[in-house]
Amino acid sequence: MKKFIALFSLCFILVLLTSGVPKSSSGSDYQPISKIVLKNSFDPEAYYQRQCTFCHNTSGRKAPSMKQIKKIYLDTYQTGDVFIKKMSDFVLAPHKEKKIYQGDTGRFDVMPSGMFYDPEKIKSVVKYIYSTNEL
Ligand code: HEC
Repeated sequence: MKKFIALFSLCFILVLLTSGVPKSSSGSDYQPISKIVLKNSFDPEAYYQRQCTFCHNTSGRKAPSMKQIKKIYLDTYQTGDVFIKKMSDFVLAPHKEKKIYQGDTGRFDVMPSGMFYDPEKIKSVVKYIYSTNEL
């Protein structure tokens, strides 16, 4: 009987050790809360860097730089609201009749359509383009 109790408690301790103890912080399941929050929040600047600068960069090979485009939008549209509305409309559904940029447009004649379809995201990216000095 003593042996049985000893064996039983040994098993019990083993189970406790393997299941109840949290995994170490270097384990792959571990994810700090700050990371989870960052993953779910939308960052317009990061989106712009990832999705737009692939074509809109200073090389001008694929598309005009965003700095050039922004200048023309600022010259054409008097208020921030109109700037943001017009640019978002274009990005969500590019069409050659909506184009206001007349210079060298790089490799494509019109910006390829069907790439961006989330109005909320595009609007906040365009707001970022409008307000930043870092293009
Ligand atoms: C695959 C390449 C490509 C990507 C990616 C791209 N663009 Fe463009 N875009 C172009 C090209 C080429 C033009 C120039 C021709 C034109 O005006 O349609 C252009 C033109 C524009 C114009 C000027 C339109 C006008 O009135 O003449 C705006 C504004 C614009 N892009 C915004 C964006 C934004 C914002 C993003 C990212 C969310 C983006 N583009 C991503 C290729 C791209």
